[in-house]
Amino acid sequence: MPDHSSLESPVATRRGFATRRTFAIISHPDAGKTTLTERLLLAAGAVHLAGNVRARGERRRTRSDWMEIERQRGISISSSVMTFEHAGLTFNLLDTPGHEDFSEDTYRTLTAVDSAVMVIDAAKGIESQTRKLFEVCRLRDIPIITFINKVDREGRDPFELLDEIESTLALDVCPVTWPVGMGTTFQGLFDLRNPRLFTAAAAHQGFDKQIDCTGPRDPKLADHISEAVLGDFRETAELALSAYPEFSLQSYREGHLTPVFFGSALKNYGMEEILSAIADWAPPPRLQPAEPQPVAPDAPGVAGFVFKVQANMDPNHRDRVAFFRLCSGRLTRGIKLRQSGTGKSITIHNPMFFFARERELAEEALPGDIVGIPNHGTLCVGDTLTDGEELRFTGIPNFAPEILRRVRLGDPMRAKQMRRALEDLAEEGVTQVFRPVLGAQWIVGVVGQLQLDVLEARIAEEYKIKVQFEPSPHQVARWVTADDPNLVKRFTKSNAANIAEDRDGAPVFLARNAWELDYAVREWPNVKFLETRERT
Ligand code: G4P
Repeated sequence: MPDHSSLESPVATRRGFATRRTFAIISHPDAGKTTLTERLLLAAGAVHLAGNVRARGERRRTRSDWMEIERQRGISISSSVMTFEHAGLTFNLLDTPGHEDFSEDTYRTLTAVDSAVMVIDAAKGIESQTRKLFEVCRLRDIPIITFINKVDREGRDPFELLDEIESTLALDVCPVTWPVGMGTTFQGLFDLRNPRLFTAAAAHQGFDKQIDCTGPRDPKLADHISEAVLGDFRETAELALSAYPEFSLQSYREGHLTPVFFGSALKNYGMEEILSAIADWAPPPRLQPAEPQPVAPDAPGVAGFVFKVQANMDPNHRDRVAFFRLCSGRLTRGIKLRQSGTGKSITIHNPMFFFARERELAEEALPGDIVGIPNHGTLCVGDTLTDGEELRFTGIPNFAPEILRRVRLGDPMRAKQMRRALEDLAEEGVTQVFRPVLGAQWIVGVVGQLQLDVLEARIAEEYKIKVQFEPSPHQVARWVTADDPNLVKRFTKSNAANIAEDRDGAPVFLARNAWELDYAVREWPNVKFLETRERT
């Protein structure tokens, strides 16, 4: 169980940002991220949902998922931000889409968190998407708390699961709670570090009993655990205590060790423990990579970056919200910030905090906070905003799309609206839109088929335009740059039929296939063909 030792500096406490816990939950689809999100909100007192979780459809409508298509498909597509207060702290929970087609969006969301909770299905262990998301966390040294979910069902052996985390993710594991039985024999959770048993008088939602004891061998446990389970529990819990390293806050925060909790989000088992672990162990705002140098949360100037833009969040107000992670300074309503790159001054009239669908005006935000900034297309993913200093946060790239499609418009009279729709949605950063320098048909680029479906549905629903996507003659897109700008000009001129511009006007080379790309690379050795592009 979390102790209260802390690595926070006195400066952090004085400036208030030590009270921020900005984190994401990562998981493979269906491991239980949505359920856990909801249950954490419930345990924190941020929502009041009486009784059992309602039917999935209704639950999804009422909680973090926004969009019609999400409801239809029952998947979580858009990242949402949920801010809630608990135990004197402010938790900013960033929801990451679990579907692999949205990995780019997820990647960028993870640039805005200081820690993550990794949810694993006890019956399935580490799955493909868990692994990918974990790799992104590792790239940024994001500390991870592991939650092994669904212990109310038959699952795999706990040791096998721990060993799998250890070996596939190359991470030390430290079990914090231990399941007493699993599936039909499940009888509670045992706190290994601070010996006590959490159990329920009857099989219902959550625990209602806590039995403090001296350890797994304490005789009084026999009054609460059935004989059939007790022997095995004692043996495995003792082994768990001796076989794994002690919890080390430093090792966790450096990303070398993950504390592991067992539980069931659906049945509300183990939620308090996860919340306490985030409160006591998860780091407050950390140093953020930037140029010319990283930005510390206690730096005096206001600085942060946009990691997500969402258009039309509220169908009643055609609006666009930039999600901004504040990295240093104190943001107050009405502040004027400078957009790096353009140098434009932007007044933040209505910064917002989010609670799922609800919004609240933010009078003041501290480092670690995520504020929504309504705007009309001025702010894009990757933008840095400061109160004057010339700096740029790094590591929030655009990725080269893997699928390119030509856009065909049902009604040619609506070309202008279609352009607006494509540009609006591209600004969200999930899809790319390219305008060929020759020819009139727009090209969209995505990383997965599902994004095309979402794009089509959203253009129909939000802009009332019918579009179709047809195969494009091009299969590969690369941003082109060179040290000598004239070289880029020469290259684009000689390859005009293969050149398009992205939404910022940056030149992109569209190749029919890998061979054509290779050929261009060989012919133009001083031109760089990039798979990612960071906004400047
Ligand atoms: P995701 O966001 O990671 O995709 O997962 P989600 O929470 O939607 O959960 C996926 C399924 O797993 C849901 O069942 C959910 O009820 C179930 N689930 C989540 N946590 C637990 C748990 O602790 N124990 C058990 N037994 N099941 C859990 P579903 O059948 O797909 O939907 P529903 O109709 O039950 O809501």
